[in-house]
Amino acid sequence: MAHDHMIELLDLDAEVLSDYFREVIGWVGREAVDRPRIVDLGAGSGTASLALARQLPGATVTAVDMSPEMLAHLRGRAAAAGLGDRIQTVEADLDQPWPDFGPTDVIWAAASMHHLAHPATALASAYGALRPGGLLVIAELKSFPRYLAGTAGEDVELRGHAAAAERRHEAGMHMHENWGDRATRAGFASVIERHFDIDLRPPLPAAATRYAQLSLARMRHGLTDRLSEADLAALDAIVAGLADRDDLGVRTERTVWLARR
Ligand SMILES: C[S@@+](CC[C@H](N)C(=O)[O-])C[C@H]1O[C@@H](n2cnc3c(N)ncnc32)[C@H](O)[C@@H]1O
Repeated sequence: MAHDHMIELLDLDAEVLSDYFREVIGWVGREAVDRPRIVDLGAGSGTASLALARQLPGATVTAVDMSPEMLAHLRGRAAAAGLGDRIQTVEADLDQPWPDFGPTDVIWAAASMHHLAHPATALASAYGALRPGGLLVIAELKSFPRYLAGTAGEDVELRGHAAAAERRHEAGMHMHENWGDRATRAGFASVIERHFDIDLRPPLPAAATRYAQLSLARMRHGLTDRLSEADLAALDAIVAGLADRDDLGVRTERTVWLARR
């Protein structure tokens, strides 16, 4: 998938799942110090960096990513939202020794820890980067969004998810880690784990339809060598017809761990 489609997909994540983000950030805000200094690891298009800066008064955010395209997009969004003075970006590969981010009250890592090659090393770096009492927040996808539940396309969507999960596993991604146990082993004192079952029912706003289009097209193109011709053709037909449908939902599960240094 082209990079700009990935950016659009991440931006839509913020819009479609805004209630979930509001709830998690509200929780973090209650646990964190006032005007927290936040580092957003693998910040991507800035979904959380912007939401954190908007929702937590006086928060400052250092958005870290290895992708200069993501960071350029993020800076543009921050400036457009009038948050340019509270959000800065740092380009860094988090699989290498981390740069010094300065005093840090909260480290936020959403859908990024699973990309890192060595989870234990990353958690040790997070521990070292936080001030005592600081918070590490890890949010991960327990299941990727499904749009076709209860419709004729449900089965092919499920087969697509199974094949994509297999591909991620083979690529060595750390999708189903117990980040709470890992944080404890890294020295974090208290760890709280919460599950979020997101189940948005039809009719959905236009942004959700676009979200489904990008997400299912991305799934289909990543699985050319893994799904049958019939399933690929079925996914093509589903993607082509999404704009005219009013029966799409969004179902996804997220797990969030909040650990205190
Ligand atoms: C799935 S996106 C999540 C983006 C964002 N946190 C969100 O929730 O929308 C993962 C991000 O992690 C970044 N990433 C992956 N590996 C990385 C690494 N080794 N160092 C820095 N960033 C990395 C990618 O460039 C991408 O922007």
